Amino acid sequence: MKPISAPKTYRVKSFGCQMNVYDGERMGELLAERGITPAPEGEEADLVILNTCHIREKAAEKVYSDIGRLVAAGKENGKAPLIAVAGCVAQAEGEEIMARAPAVSIVVGPQAYHRLPEMLDKATKGERATDTDMPAIAKFDALPARRKRGPSAFLTVQEGCDKFCTYCVVPYTRGAEISRPWRHLLDEAQKLVEAGAKEITLLGQNVNAWRGEDDKGRPVGLGGLIRRLAGIDGLLRIRYTTSHPNDMDDDLIAAHGEVAKLMPYLHLPVQSGSDRVLKAMNRQHTAESYLRLIERFRAARPDIALSGDFIVGFPGETEAEFQDTLNIVDQVRYAACFSFKYSPRPGTPAAKMDGQIAPEVMDERLQRLQQRIGAHQYAFNQASVGKRCEVLVERPGRHAGQWLGKSPWLQSVWFESAAAIGEMVEVELAEAGPNSLKGLARQTVSV
Ligand code: SAH
Ligand code: SF4
Ligand code: F3S
Repeated sequence: MKPISAPKTYRVKSFGCQMNVYDGERMGELLAERGITPAPEGEEADLVILNTCHIREKAAEKVYSDIGRLVAAGKENGKAPLIAVAGCVAQAEGEEIMARAPAVSIVVGPQAYHRLPEMLDKATKGERATDTDMPAIAKFDALPARRKRGPSAFLTVQEGCDKFCTYCVVPYTRGAEISRPWRHLLDEAQKLVEAGAKEITLLGQNVNAWRGEDDKGRPVGLGGLIRRLAGIDGLLRIRYTTSHPNDMDDDLIAAHGEVAKLMPYLHLPVQSGSDRVLKAMNRQHTAESYLRLIERFRAARPDIALSGDFIVGFPGETEAEFQDTLNIVDQVRYAACFSFKYSPRPGTPAAKMDGQIAPEVMDERLQRLQQRIGAHQYAFNQASVGKRCEVLVERPGRHAGQWLGKSPWLQSVWFESAAAIGEMVEVELAEAGPNSLKGLARQTVSV
């Protein structure tokens, strides 16, 4: 590759989960330290970072077609961007990417992106750079201070996964479970609030597996961290995602009843309602134990909204087993859910299991499941009509004077008011749609 001039502008395209969004923001902060700024809307960037996801198939193919598009656009306007591939596809298929896509200058894994500036130096000299090491904590130590963002911010507290569900690539792409230290998290949260964050969502592949020691050296779990974060002035709301049923402890459940800033919402994936399928997935819990856990959350916080993830068409899934999944959806009455067709991932045990399900069966099951989930979501929204709640204003709505924000139960609410982004407005939920609610602004809560 030929030496090129150092990039002045960048664009990060993040796919996949919220942890990738967080990583994308942090890469931007690293580049900003070097004076590299986000490319203005509609303009080509000098450096494009594809921050990829490997969770389901077609992800890798998507990366190659994105690269192809960037190369073609570069030829058209005579200026090829520097291309970096980051995220979970970079981790899983870094060497292949380098071999297949000569236009790529940098491949950097999710635990190594703090070294992006040095890799950029190499790339501008015309050398290609790959780094897929996994020194997770070192990464966080090497990142610069947080910059101003919107009112709702992400904070990664835990990374990696030791669960090895038989269908999932995350333990391979993100590595073993690690928890960031207490003090680092309090400092980063404080900085986020000083930069304008009113709501912080704590992130982790298994966020409730977070463990640490407080300033006095006492062991503490996620509930303790949340209780401490709730003491930060100016921080109004705390959320966390994604939890694993087996990592829940009493203190976190109790926190839902005791910490006013902790929002009444829990994303707790179950994946399937069939114990045979759960066992084959290596989930290490049953449908019944999951339902009992949900009951404990509801006892601590009766209005808690629940959401989950589901996979249909896991190898060997029978119609009766799929019915068990529909049943658990009815029993929990979720406020929202994500559902996916099973996707065989290279290197995972499930990809080699007998009984792979035909695509048309999966399509049909997914449709039925989504219908059922949609009905519960709509019912949940309808049951909210008449409630008064606070909405954190996040962005303008479609029409002038309209604003959009989230209710405590993570519903999208739009309303008319003279509010401003970052303000908390008390609204009465007036009309429910399947995916959002109309609110009537009552007053701006002073913050
Ligand atoms: N750590 C979280 C979620 C990680 S991935 C948890 O265990 O709950 C997000 C979701 O993607 C999973 O909950 C699962 O529903 C889905 N998923 C993961 N691997 C998949 C695969 N091979 N095929 C289809 N969906 C998958
Ligand atoms: Fe994947 Fe299971 Fe780990 Fe979640 S708990 S990231 S689904 S292996
Ligand atoms: Fe995707 Fe990696 Fe997140 S595979 S879902 S970006 S952890």
